[in-house]
Amino acid sequence: MKKDDLIQQTAEYIREIFKIEGSGHDWWHIHRVWQLSTWIAQQEGANLFIVEMAALLHDLDDWKLNPQEEAKACKWMEQIGLNADEHKEIQQVIDQVSFKGAEVDTTPDSLEAQVVQDADRLDAMGAIGIARTFAYGGHKNRLIYDPEVQPVLHDSFDAYQKSTAPTINHFYEKLLLLKDRINTPSGQELAQQRHLFMESYLEQFFQEWHKQEQV
Ligand code: ADP
Ligand code: NI
Repeated sequence: MKKDDLIQQTAEYIREIFKIEGSGHDWWHIHRVWQLSTWIAQQEGANLFIVEMAALLHDLDDWKLNPQEEAKACKWMEQIGLNADEHKEIQQVIDQVSFKGAEVDTTPDSLEAQVVQDADRLDAMGAIGIARTFAYGGHKNRLIYDPEVQPVLHDSFDAYQKSTAPTINHFYEKLLLLKDRINTPSGQELAQQRHLFMESYLEQFFQEWHKQEQV
């Protein structure tokens, strides 16, 4: 099968799986990461097929969505008959994309993984990132904010996974740290403005919060 057809088939498969999803990881998140990954890959000269396939499959086995570790991405790649090298390369990208805690180094070793990680992280920032974060918090029954629970910079993936902290804490535990962890120059440029928007959002949030204490 031609590479373009493999990508289109994979997109259709993923679109069906993620069409009803309420935690901020719906099909349009995957679609944005796919499109942004493609653009960054073109700027940076990364292998487009590997990047596009990994972007489409990157959340299929995510621990947040599928705790039972089904290896669906692997099964899908077998089903469409990818050759062993491509399969391995795409799987390596998928395995390196995720954030694992503030103090955990997750810098990918290939350009392709750096590109997909950047696109995924950019979609966690800015106005869309804020929307996704509150969607996830609601999905997990989290409080919006609790002044009695302080943010924690997790030093292990296990501690990060176990956190049940309010959603505002996620900004300090992950989202505001992303700007300095974007791998590629094209990604870094996009991250600046999205970071500033999150900072002004938080400023307004706390202004409103503290206003209640004065009235
Ligand atoms: P990653 O693999 O890096 O976690 P994802 O594409 O799976 O990236 O999505 C991460 C997004 O899920 C976050 O940016 C945020 O919107 C949401 N999220 C994850 N953990 C939390 C949390 N503890 N509180 C609020 N939102 C969260
Ligand atoms: Ni994602």
